[in-house]
Amino acid sequence: MQLLGTLPPTYAELSTEEMEARIRTIKSRLGNRLFLPAHHYQKDEVVQFADATGDSLQLARLAEQMSEAEYIVFCGVHFMAETADMLTRDDQLVVLPDLRAGCSMADMADIDQTEIAWEELTDQFGEDIIPITYVNSTAAIKAFVGRHGGATVTSSNAHDIVQWALDSGKRILFLPDQHLGRNTAFDLGIPLEAMAVWDPLREQLNIDGAIEDVQVILWKGHCSVHEKFNVNQIKTFREREPERRIIVHPECAFDVVQEADEAGSTSYIIQQIEASAPGTKWAIGTEMNLVNRLAATHPELDIVSLNPYMCPCLTMNRIDLPHLLWALESLETEPVNVIKVDAETTKWSKQALERMLGR
Ligand code: 13P
Ligand code: SF4
Repeated sequence: MQLLGTLPPTYAELSTEEMEARIRTIKSRLGNRLFLPAHHYQKDEVVQFADATGDSLQLARLAEQMSEAEYIVFCGVHFMAETADMLTRDDQLVVLPDLRAGCSMADMADIDQTEIAWEELTDQFGEDIIPITYVNSTAAIKAFVGRHGGATVTSSNAHDIVQWALDSGKRILFLPDQHLGRNTAFDLGIPLEAMAVWDPLREQLNIDGAIEDVQVILWKGHCSVHEKFNVNQIKTFREREPERRIIVHPECAFDVVQEADEAGSTSYIIQQIEASAPGTKWAIGTEMNLVNRLAATHPELDIVSLNPYMCPCLTMNRIDLPHLLWALESLETEPVNVIKVDAETTKWSKQALERMLGR
């Protein structure tokens, strides 16, 4: 018996050449009826077929603009495909080639935990809290945030949106990545003592300073990929090769971001690498498929990972040639792995997304 959503065994037996040829054929036949976006963390075997590559924000914007596409086969993770579905028309079909491509960070906040946290925090601080969620979260959480007057952020616009929330004069609840929240708020002048951490498993608020000074409440979640970078790795490079520049993603812990030469979103990292002078040495603290691709496409630079034992994001890596081919070949008969968010969740999530997109 084949489980729903699992790859038919025949696809696993195909040669790489055959899969690539069949993907090329179906792509050229469908033309503009198909849009195939891929996140920068996807494998090269998938990226070679992408109509566009980008970070989360760029891909959300692009999916929305692809009005001609009947099919959007999203090569990324589940929350990205959900976002694409919510930003596209009802008659456009969004497919995630492998439904197991989730995000361990997004899984660290579920809607029941969020409702419990909200009740506790509003009891403690009153109603003047504005929820902000990283797009790396479920549609249900985006809807919760939209319903309570908040907004989504991505790593490339977190500063603008958190500043917008701070300007409202309310306290912020930032989900689900404590590191992006802490790094962003600190950059905007909020001291660490004014940040508390909500632990969803213990259902308790951890505070270092005085409770009345708390301005930002960080959800205790993190990215299991970016947590693999630490300050010792930076120190080792500093001792051995002081000229090597260190650049990291803001999903890394606060001390790592503080010690690095630069920190910024996936797009920012790419821009900095592309703008650097030939011969520049870099150690990059982000996902390994992207680091390897940057090293391969910039032989004039010396690029390594900040963590010499780094692996790619396992869930991003679930999207591979067999799943991509299966998803594409099923589109016109019986589409598999369709991502459809219900109308009510979409309505509220869009409020949060549209605040982020500046509408
Ligand atoms: P960005 O694409 O916003 O940089 O996010 C990185 C990431 O971890 C995506 O899952
Ligand atoms: Fe989630 Fe981190 Fe993988 Fe991005 S890199 S999909 S945040 S686990």
